[in-house]
Amino acid sequence: MHTKNDLYLRALRGERVERTPIWVMRQAGRYLPDYRATRARAGDFLTLCKTPEMACEVTLQPIDHFGLDAAILFSDILTIPDAMGLELVLEEGVGPVFQKPLMGAADINELAVPDMHADLGYVMDAVALIRRELNDRVPLIGFTGSPWTLASYMVEGKGSKDFAKVKGLMFGEPELMHTLLNVVTDAVIEYLRAQVRAGVQSLMVFDTWGGMLSTAAFKTFSLAYMQRIVTAIKSDSDCKDVPIVLFTKGGGQWLEMLADTGCDGLGLDWTIDIAQAKQRVGDRVILQGNMDPVVMSTTGAAVESQARAVLDGYGQVGAQDRGHIFNLGHGIQPTAKPDNMRVLVETVKSYSPSFHS
Ligand code: CP3
Repeated sequence: MHTKNDLYLRALRGERVERTPIWVMRQAGRYLPDYRATRARAGDFLTLCKTPEMACEVTLQPIDHFGLDAAILFSDILTIPDAMGLELVLEEGVGPVFQKPLMGAADINELAVPDMHADLGYVMDAVALIRRELNDRVPLIGFTGSPWTLASYMVEGKGSKDFAKVKGLMFGEPELMHTLLNVVTDAVIEYLRAQVRAGVQSLMVFDTWGGMLSTAAFKTFSLAYMQRIVTAIKSDSDCKDVPIVLFTKGGGQWLEMLADTGCDGLGLDWTIDIAQAKQRVGDRVILQGNMDPVVMSTTGAAVESQARAVLDGYGQVGAQDRGHIFNLGHGIQPTAKPDNMRVLVETVKSYSPSFHS
């Protein structure tokens, strides 16, 4: 028997809700024994992403175990560059690596928007299957990387500490950088539209590396392209009612600018004081976050007190604000304890109703 839980969507639409909704970035992942079992069966990470039955299975695992208020599509932000021909491999101990990173102008000028069915159809098949299996128990979140974050991986070829290559392109050949960001943005918009048509009910943009930029560079090379995404989604007849949340990690100083894009919500990393963020954005966007993910690897008592501190920080949801979605300030880590997820969800469910009277 399934009870329908649309708390997360009602909160995003600005409706009054009875308690704070909760989901967790990377809620399906290596901290879960079930995930590791399915991943072992798949053989490698990309096969897991590209096999809709297995992607569906791992999407549902945290929902079944912990009673979270939203499911997030199991996939990766790097599916787009993979579909553009860069050949993604997840190397053990290194992380994602592209076999064919962009080496210069010739590579960039050759890039084209991938075909959403021929090249990324496995994502849409997973979305449709997950919606069927969820049977409206909770809403399904679709997602993308921000153009700047995707372009960073495409130029660096893998994760980076100083982003020297992509910043070299940005400072040295800004027009070429814009050519790259434009084609990636076109692909992201088509990708999000296709996810919505396949069944996702809300959208999230992960701008994981936006915080590596100066304010001027952030505006020009990240924010402007996220603005293009929000504008395109809000003017598409199929997507305009699908809420969209932007998350710039390290972007605490730019919350007002991010809210100005017309998005519905903002993700906050753990360095931002949520009470101050609430003051700054008022009733323009809902705030999502922002407990330090490392707490999840410590004790149940710490999880409970830190979760309460985040809820206390946001405080009462009143007429002057749009509300709060509980989450961590970044993805849950492989060292997190599954029992701590139980404590976290229970704390948010039992402690948050008093802020919604
Ligand atoms: O949140 C979810 O449960 C949905 C699935 C999801 C994954 N990646 C699964 C994954 C989502 C939303 C992402 C987004 C993603 N991927 C981001 C943006 C969010 C963030 O964390 O900042 C980024 C930067 C990536 C790129 C990426 N993919 C990295 C850096 C890594 C390696 C890091 C790691 O944890 O090993 C991946 C691989 C990856 N994506 C894993 C998972 C569960 C680990 C795969 C495994 O080893 O089995």
